[in-house]
Amino acid sequence: MRATAIAQPNIALIKYWGKRDTNLNLPAVGSISITLSDLVTRMSVETDTSLADDVLRVNGHEAQQMLPRISHCLDSIAGSERPKFRIDSDCNFPIAAGLASSASSFAALVVAADAALELRLGRAALVSLAGRASGSAARSLMGGYVELMNLDDDIAVNQLLGPEDWPLAVVVAITAAGPKPIGSGSAMEISRKTSPFFDRWIEQQAADLDAARSAVTGRDFAKLGAVAEHNCLKMHSVMWGSRPPIVYWNSGTLACMETIRELQAGGNAVFFTIDAGPQVKAVCLPGDVARVRQALAATPGVSDILVSGLGDGARAVTAT
Ligand code: DP6
Repeated sequence: MRATAIAQPNIALIKYWGKRDTNLNLPAVGSISITLSDLVTRMSVETDTSLADDVLRVNGHEAQQMLPRISHCLDSIAGSERPKFRIDSDCNFPIAAGLASSASSFAALVVAADAALELRLGRAALVSLAGRASGSAARSLMGGYVELMNLDDDIAVNQLLGPEDWPLAVVVAITAAGPKPIGSGSAMEISRKTSPFFDRWIEQQAADLDAARSAVTGRDFAKLGAVAEHNCLKMHSVMWGSRPPIVYWNSGTLACMETIRELQAGGNAVFFTIDAGPQVKAVCLPGDVARVRQALAATPGVSDILVSGLGDGARAVTAT
């Protein structure tokens, strides 16, 4: 039994940082994201009764280190008595570098496993399963502008606008391509336990979600940019105030933020957001992409640029 699914990463404009339940991996806050179109994870899964354990290959190489999370996610879908799988994942962008590769990977995995085993679990159950594997992955089940909401003992996602309803673009400035120093899951727990700003961050999230939701549905770029930058800087302030401090930025990150400030001063419709890595994501109107791309490419410390539009949610592409 085999199937293939593709999923795109998403970029949070209102961030998830902190867990309210580590066993169920439930987020402490809701979040709002945009699903990308041009960064893609393609995941094929195939049951193999001759295997003693699952086998994972990422971009053609065995990736033993990532296997436990993948196997755990498959257990949650099909039970621990399930057959073992061969899993092949191909990603056209850097992995574990703050570009949300876990979001697209787990979104693709739950969809592929559901199709391969012909479970037909339905979108809500797949959202829940993806979220247990990685909180941000739940949002990649949907395309366009997606809000993740906390329910009593679960999560749900809601599409605020489709990708074509407001086709913004994202220019990603890569300032370091290696893996990050600490995974976001463990880093969030350090923040929850030690950052003096953590409680205030949680308290203020509902107001940021309200502002962003109305900016998205009203297609108000300036309002969305203002609340997204503020929310991003608050999340990083929580991280910086943790013990030990969690600092994902490098000098290139700061240089990119300065470039974006200059672009804003020059009248370009662009704002930044930064996740658990040093890359800077510049969100802009499609007509500003060329200028934003050129300015970020010329910024010291930038080694590469990726450009993406907005795309659809995770979906199965074959099932045999
Ligand atoms: C900074 O979804 O990677 O990108 O649930 O532990 O897998 P786990 O965390 P993850 O955290 C994402 C954090 C973020 C913000 C966001 O995407 O909302």
